[in-house]
Amino acid sequence: MPAWLKDAIFYEIYPQSFKDSNGDGIGDFNGIIEKLDYIKELGCNAIWMNPCYDSPFQDGGYDVRDYKKTAERYGSIEDLVHLFEEVHKREMHILLDLVPGHTSEEHPWFKESSKVERNEYSDRYIWTDKWFHGAQGLNYIAGESPRDGVYVLNYFKCQPALNYGFLHPEECWQKGIDDPACLETREALKDIMRFWLDKGCDGFRVDMADSLVKKDDESKSGTSEVWKNVRKMLDAEYPEAALVSEWNKPQVAIPAGFHMDFFLDWEGNGYNLLMRNIVDGKNNSFFHKDSDRSVLDFFDEYLEKYEQIKDKGQYCLITGNHDMIRAAFYLDVRELKLAYSFLFTMPGNPFLYYGDEIGMRYQNLPTKEGGYTRTGSRTPMQWDNTENCGFSTAFAKDLYLPVDTKPGAPNVAQEEQDKDSLLNMVKEILAIRRREADLQENANLELVYAKKDERGFAYRRGSLLMLCNPSGEEIVIEETSLPKVGEKLFTIGEASYTDGKYMLGKQSFVLWKIA
Ligand code: NOJ
Repeated sequence: MPAWLKDAIFYEIYPQSFKDSNGDGIGDFNGIIEKLDYIKELGCNAIWMNPCYDSPFQDGGYDVRDYKKTAERYGSIEDLVHLFEEVHKREMHILLDLVPGHTSEEHPWFKESSKVERNEYSDRYIWTDKWFHGAQGLNYIAGESPRDGVYVLNYFKCQPALNYGFLHPEECWQKGIDDPACLETREALKDIMRFWLDKGCDGFRVDMADSLVKKDDESKSGTSEVWKNVRKMLDAEYPEAALVSEWNKPQVAIPAGFHMDFFLDWEGNGYNLLMRNIVDGKNNSFFHKDSDRSVLDFFDEYLEKYEQIKDKGQYCLITGNHDMIRAAFYLDVRELKLAYSFLFTMPGNPFLYYGDEIGMRYQNLPTKEGGYTRTGSRTPMQWDNTENCGFSTAFAKDLYLPVDTKPGAPNVAQEEQDKDSLLNMVKEILAIRRREADLQENANLELVYAKKDERGFAYRRGSLLMLCNPSGEEIVIEETSLPKVGEKLFTIGEASYTDGKYMLGKQSFVLWKIA
């Protein structure tokens, strides 16, 4: 495990929308450099930046045309290396986004692969042997290329799947995972990783990490073999490089070689029920004041996975990401405060999506660059009250996406001045997390009080006890097995402790030192 992960708190940056330094209406590397001190002061010491490579941008950059070139809109490779240096100067770390499962259909490998004549890249992607042979059980495109065959997709139409082979090849065109062509794909992936690690990045968030080997069973043993092999290379050559997977199966991803995996937002799962759950038009997210949920709706699923990996890797909680509707769409500021206090005091490396710290709102916008409903969560960061909220000096009509300038739109400058703001609360809880070893990624977690029909709950981490009441009514928890508490390190709302009784005011969260 890279030592720096022990207390890493990540900030996710969608580079298009963070800070435009040259007035062309779109965010860039130099803009991020300008805001590194802000990120550090916020309490985050690590960054995950979404794809920044050359791309036709049909899927926000997850359609890579050249893995070793930066997208012009963000700046040159020298600018990116400069960003790495500035990050490191501040004792921070940065992960790039690695897209291993597919490229853009404009990638030169794919263009070569589509040709009739056999060449070095003919088997870099998955093709069937005849134009009228489909790839059963997989998405594919027929009739688009001179080559006699159809090709398999990994996600959108613009994203042909790279060939890591099939776990149990059945058709003549399916290759085993150890076929030389599939091993070459693997080596090409390692080559890309080495390229960026040599330039100074600190590791990768890995897109659709589970998607490599096809017709892989539930256990994902083929895909895991690929990652174990990649990890072996990293351990030998870049032991401080970190890998986080977009997988949501830590019990599989961690043994496969990842250091961290995300608890992703899938409709109706434990994470979704915390902050983004609408049932029959009614908000029933756990942190919503009027919800009737118990926190066990989250913990039942979380603990089962957490227990399996707890000494081996991290199961990471996020405030949101570029694929989800912003949390502020479902929760008001008080509810967000409770939710974040919880997320930031749990095990695993937390990930904060840019703008969530000020409660940036979801905007209803037409799709941009393959974003669809995700577009409204990708709008420019709101820095202050100046033109375009300080994001860019371009004309508003030329911005990558419109800035939220509607009444009530939050911004950093205004929240910095307000001691009760969400931003200041985030700073406070992150500072506590950094200070208290018991709140760090590997420190123990114990759910000490939660009931199916109750809203309040308590969890312990070493010498600290956290209690939360998301409901609109005061509650008293009387439970002899809970430890006596002393100094209060952090509170939202009212909370007190007397004679074995924990009084929790409406919508409260408290972090106590155990006496
Ligand atoms: C997951 C990424 O987070 C998402 O934005 C992208 O569209 C797909 N993978 C395809 O790469």
